[in-house]
Amino acid sequence: MTDTTNETEAAPGPRTDGPPRLTRLTFHGPLSEARAHSLVQRLTRTNPATVLDIGCGWGELMLRVLAAAPEAKGTGIDVNAEDLARGRHEAEARGLAHRAAFVEESAAGTSRGPADLVLCVGSSQALSAAEPPEHTTEALRALRRLVADGGRVLLGEGFWERTPTPAELSGMWPGAAATDHYDLATLLDLAVAAGFRPEWTETANLDEWEEFESAYQADVETWLAEHPDHPLAAETRERLDRHRAQWMSYRGVLGLAYLTLVAAR
Ligand SMILES: C[S@@+](CC[C@H](N)C(=O)[O-])C[C@H]1O[C@@H](n2cnc3c(N)ncnc32)[C@H](O)[C@@H]1O
Repeated sequence: MTDTTNETEAAPGPRTDGPPRLTRLTFHGPLSEARAHSLVQRLTRTNPATVLDIGCGWGELMLRVLAAAPEAKGTGIDVNAEDLARGRHEAEARGLAHRAAFVEESAAGTSRGPADLVLCVGSSQALSAAEPPEHTTEALRALRRLVADGGRVLLGEGFWERTPTPAELSGMWPGAAATDHYDLATLLDLAVAAGFRPEWTETANLDEWEEFESAYQADVETWLAEHPDHPLAAETRERLDRHRAQWMSYRGVLGLAYLTLVAAR
């Protein structure tokens, strides 16, 4: 999906007295506790032994899958060292460290897999260098190679709830275009063409988006309110204001689909 967040995030890395980063988020996307629970139940029905999380970030969903599937081993790959460290810390805290690996590497052209379950939530851009929306098609092909026959893929992918107006597009991420995403029907057709059957189709609702976008900014907003004279205050304010304006432009227009896909034999 179009990553609506990275462009405006503070640079990763240790910071001692600057703004915090993503401390109010449980998941790095619009995902409620209720949906996460039902996803984990569905994805573990088939007792996966191997789980691969593409662009895992801190891998909250993978860790919940591993907790629900005690025989499973999981590998999350990402290029963000700070998020991976958070994932390792969480795995340790939950007694899952012996079954959860967080590896700093790019998913582009990865030779990992095939796994019984592949998670790719908000991360399809990690699997293809093509321009949107072709990258979705390429990512689906890559996901089919990464999953075992009969296995499952959870794809969390952006789509247009409706065609955005030119005014809305001009307020979104830099260079936003109507061709950046497909609609939901086309996304499903592409998944089928790539060798999947859709077991379950669901989409993030507005409550999940509002929770995510608020939590995404909340720690930095409260930091800024408390530190108006900090050397980083001006650039932080500019970043927050820019992201808020973008979010107000894609709110209700950009969707996120959670597709539970079966890898057809
Ligand atoms: C929106 S976040 C989603 C994180 C996680 N899947 C989740 O749902 O919480 C997108 C992630 O993709 C990662 N990413 C971007 N390019 C990547 C690449 N080439 N290889 C691996 N990960 C990548 C980013 O570092 C980021 O953690």
